[in-house]
Amino acid sequence: MPTSFTHPPENQAADIATAIVDDLVARGWSHQADFLPADLVLTLAAECRERADKGALALAGVGRGTGLAVREGVRGDYIQWLEAGQSAACDQYLGIMESLRQALNRTLYLGLEEYETHFALYPPGAFYQKHIDRFRDDDRRTVSAVLYLNQDWLPEQGGALRLHLDGKTQQDILPSGGSLALFLSADMPHEVLAATRERLSLTGWFKRR
Ligand code: OGA
Ligand code: MN
Repeated sequence: MPTSFTHPPENQAADIATAIVDDLVARGWSHQADFLPADLVLTLAAECRERADKGALALAGVGRGTGLAVREGVRGDYIQWLEAGQSAACDQYLGIMESLRQALNRTLYLGLEEYETHFALYPPGAFYQKHIDRFRDDDRRTVSAVLYLNQDWLPEQGGALRLHLDGKTQQDILPSGGSLALFLSADMPHEVLAATRERLSLTGWFKRR
């Protein structure tokens, strides 16, 4: 198991952060095809499957605690939250997202304080109905960021993240390995369509104070 992975060059990371900021400002969402190097993506995917095989992933709930949730969608994914210090790959990913958090704060002034993320595994046929990522009793989730861990995803396999940009315009994003989808958590209704194969991701949120 490698303990360190290919790191994107500094200037490339800065270019990606700039592109994300421009997209979020212009249209409220962004999709970066090659956000993470392939070796890190493969290792994170293997770790997600290992956790699943051990039974560490649990069927996700909807909403938060006893509070009523804004997202009333039904979901069929299994999740486990990441914590620092669990593996070299997870720590590297958390470090990359920490750099992105700082870059977003330098330009977007959203006061993003932390990034929280969980592994998510959707078995074939599982989906997540249309919802919004903000809770009624906690409005700190500000930017949603989903990193996909699926090698060679084909459009006919389904599993798109469908953004509802307004009443009638939809944007489908394929969950292709190494790509990162971001959108403003407060006002982007979205859903996960069922797929014919297992669908893995690291789903997370930049949260403000
Ligand atoms: C979520 C979610 C999107 C995706 O977990 O809230 O909307 O593409 N995930 O996995
Ligand atoms: Mn969501």
